[in-house]
Order: sequence, then structure tokens, then C-alpha cells
Amino acid sequence: MNSKTILITGGAGFIGSHLVRLLVNKYPTYKIVNLDKLTYAGNLANLTDIENATNYEFVKGDIVDADFIYQLFNNYQFDAVIHLAAESHVDRSIASPMEFIMTNIVGTANLLNAARSIWKTLNPPLTPPKEGELPPFGRVGVGQTSNLFYHVSTDEVYGSLGETGMFLETTAYDPRSPYSASKASSDHLVRAYHHTYNLPIVISNCSNNYGSHQFPEKLIPLFIHNIKNNKPLPVYGKGENIRDWLWVEDHARAIDVIFHKAKVGETYNIGGHNEWKNIDLIKVICKVMDKKLGRPFGESEKLITYVTDRAGHDLRYAIDSTKLQKELGWTPSLQFEEGIEKTIDWYLNNEEWLTNVTSGAYQKYYEKQYASR
Ligand code: NAD
Ligand code: TYD
Repeated sequence: MNSKTILITGGAGFIGSHLVRLLVNKYPTYKIVNLDKLTYAGNLANLTDIENATNYEFVKGDIVDADFIYQLFNNYQFDAVIHLAAESHVDRSIASPMEFIMTNIVGTANLLNAARSIWKTLNPPLTPPKEGELPPFGRVGVGQTSNLFYHVSTDEVYGSLGETGMFLETTAYDPRSPYSASKASSDHLVRAYHHTYNLPIVISNCSNNYGSHQFPEKLIPLFIHNIKNNKPLPVYGKGENIRDWLWVEDHARAIDVIFHKAKVGETYNIGGHNEWKNIDLIKVICKVMDKKLGRPFGESEKLITYVTDRAGHDLRYAIDSTKLQKELGWTPSLQFEEGIEKTIDWYLNNEEWLTNVTSGAYQKYYEKQYASR
């Protein structure tokens, strides 16, 4: 008998699959329902190790389909939602913004509407916690009398930093790409449903993630793949943009902590204080790849090719996660040097996964198993 039923959206993607694995293994009494449309970025091969777990279920569906979402909430009576489903790649948002607007904004609104109408009939309205008071473990989001809508967002909503400063939870929003603007819109909607309808929500904004199972269009897996195949490494502009990198499993651990301990209505920044200029990070990847592939030192760096800069390219992201560390006791577990080596090892040892995602073979395989809606 499962004690709580938790909906995770986007659980077949990069971060979602790490979160689903963590929660399925750590909480055998929770039933984890993974809702995913299986876009190009969703891959059930990310979850083969837990797909037969008794506390796990996969549902194929689109968060943009309001009727379907309402029916799903009605059928399952979820205790809580952790919402990750999104279009997530900045370059794709520049080429094709409408998909981002539909999934990230309309899709989020559909989930909020369904949660609001179902939870209103299930539970009494939530009493907001007193100022400075943390709810006891296990109450928020998973208690009998309170539900939780946890919205997973990005630091990109805060815009672009100059050479100094860091993003705080209080930093004014200043999104500058269609991706970050669509995520910012969804954050605003989530907060608006809290203030207007008393919907119990929490939001986290995380910095760039790296690790296993990331689709090789993002910088780190793309460059590992290209180095291995002796293909050019397209560095945008002069490679001087700065990103703050966090190991994906530390992000999943942070979501677990926030989900169970956060104050309702709050926002938490997640990051590992780990800023890298793109070109310096790329040189580290080249060096580790030379070592792993037994190539002469300096060989992979020869693949670096400077290309036209991304339109509106944000210069620097840096996140201050002091609030999360002090209030809820989360800290990153891995140093970057160890994390990047682990990550490179994973991609080199999982050639079949990489070949399948770059050829699209995984989509054809799962299409046969799950009829499209
Ligand atoms: P991803 O692109 O790897 O995965 C997104 C998942 O959502 C995929 O499985 C996809 O099939 C699913 N999806 C897309 N549209 C859908 C729809 N209409 N209905 C149902 N499912 C749909 O993304 P990710 O990198 O794992 O990011 C997950 C979340 O975390 C996103 O909300 C993103 O904004 C946020 N985030 C990502 C990062 C990062 O560095 N990757 C950092 C901070 C926050
Ligand atoms: P990316 O992984 O797309 O994440 P985001 O844009 O969300 O930060 O890109 C990380 C950084 O790497 C970003 O500054 C853009 C840069 N970049 C390149 O220089 N070349 C590439 O081919 C890609 C995909 C990214």
C-alpha cells in the first residue's frame, strides 16, 4: 500500500530521471508517477534500472493538453507534484520559441489549474507557516492535510551578471532568451496561484547541471561526444561566458530536501559555487579526454573552433545558495574535478546510449510501446 502518490513531470529527461531514481529507491512507500511526453529530450532508457519497481509508474502524455491533465489528477488524486517538464535548450528557444511558450507557460498553467481544482475538494486550505518557522519533516507536500506544487526552475530567470555579484532569491527577474522568459513566466504563474488561491507551492532556481544522461546538445555532453568522434568543438563567441556548474545528482538531492522541508510559498536557489569560463571548462574536458582516450596531451584542444556567438548570449550566471544551505542544511556532495571525471567516464562507458540518442533510435523503440496521445 503506497502512502503518498507523487506526480513528477518530465521524469524521462536529464534531471527528472535522476530525481525519479532517487525518490523511487529512497521512499518505497511513495508511489512515483512519471508523466512525460517523450519529446526528443525524454528517453525511458534513462530509467531502465527502476522501470519495474512496484512504486513506479510511467504515463505518456502532454502537459499542454488541459483535459488530459485534469483527468490524470482526477484519476490519481496526487498528494504532491514536482514539475520539471519543459523545453530546456536555449538554442532551440531562439530557433523556435512557440514550443517553449506552449510547454513551459501553458503546460505549467494546466498543471496549476488541475492541482487547484482537485486539491480544493480534497483538503482544507493550508495555514501558512509562521514567519521563520520550518514545518516538521514530512508535512509539506506529503501530509494528509497539505499538498505541494513544487516548481523546478532555473537561475536564467534572473538574467545576466557582469563580472561581479551573484543571484539571490530576491534578485529581480530579467530573463533575456525565449527559454528564460518562458521559465520566468511559469515562475510568476506559480507564485500568483499561491498568493491568489492559496495553492501550496515552492520554487527552486538552479544553476547549470552536468552529469550522466544529458542530451548531447548541451555543452558538456556535446563536447565529450565530439571529442570522441574527432569532430569540431563549436565555441560560441570568444568562449568568455561564465556558467556555474552543479552535479545533477546534487540537484536531485536538493529537490528531495526542499520537497520535504521547505516552507510553503518560498523560493530556494540551488548551486555549487562553481563558476567556469566556457573556454577554461572546455580545456579541462579536452585534457581529461586526452588522458581517457590515450591521446597525446593537447590533441583534443585542436578541435576547438570559434563560431558566431549565440544571439543575446548571457555573459555570466552565478548563484548564491546560502539560504538553502543554512535553512535546510543541503550542501553539494561532489567537487567539480571529481564530478567531471565521473561524467566523462559515464559517456565513454555508455556508448550505446549516446549512439541511440544521437541517431534518434530510442524514440522509435519507445513509440512502439506507448501509443501517442
Ligand atoms: P530535459 O530537456 O532533459 O527534459 C525535459 C523533459 O520534459 C523531457 O523528458 C521531455 O520529454 C519532457 N517534456 C517536454 N515537453 C513536455 C510536455 N509538453 N509534456 C510532458 N513532458 C514534456 O530538461 P532538464 O535539463 O532535465 O531540465 C528539467 C527542468 O529543470 C526544466 O524545467 C528546466 O527548466 C530545469 N532546469 C534545468 C537545468 C539544466 O542545467 N539542465 C538547470 C536548472 C533548471
Ligand atoms: P548550454 O549547455 O546550452 O547551457 P545554457 O545556455 O543554458 O547555459 O551552454 C552552456 C554555455 O556553453 C553557454 O554559455 C553557451 C556555450 N555553448 C557553446 O559555446 N557551444 C555550444 O555548442 C553549446 C551547446 C553551448
